[in-house]
Amino acid sequence: MKILILNGPNLNLLGKREPDVYGAQTLPELNAYIRGYFKKTELDFFQSNHEGEIIDRIQQADGVYDGIVLNAGAYTHYGYAIRDAVAGVQIPVVEVHLSNVDAREPFRRKSVLAPVVAGRISGFGAYGYVLAVRALAHRAKDKA
Ligand code: DQA
Repeated sequence: MKILILNGPNLNLLGKREPDVYGAQTLPELNAYIRGYFKKTELDFFQSNHEGEIIDRIQQADGVYDGIVLNAGAYTHYGYAIRDAVAGVQIPVVEVHLSNVDAREPFRRKSVLAPVVAGRISGFGAYGYVLAVRALAHRAKDKA
């Protein structure tokens, strides 16, 4: 299994950014935490504040990775080009949010990615990424 963990805008500020909402862990700490759960699964990590770079990574991942764990940050709520990139690749994408987006401001309740992702995990903090990798592994096993 080879999985890409893709984080979008402002997630590079984890640890400093609204720690009451997103926790005290920095992005490198979060990535190390996820890696700690998986010995056999190959994990690559990428973060960008730029929509086009996120789209490039999604396109490049097709046929190279078995799946993508995507926290698109605020692009989740209005990023139609990212939605189209997800719809355009064959590999499954799991949408992850650290916070429980449905329990926050109304604009966060809408995900333009929801119709095209394999599933969504929200509100479990860093462990949500672990759940997403496990879900992709489970899905791949079911398909084998
Ligand atoms: C987030 C939730 C989004 O609404 C927000 O814009 C983020 C982070 C989360 O992980 O909870 O940047 O995706």
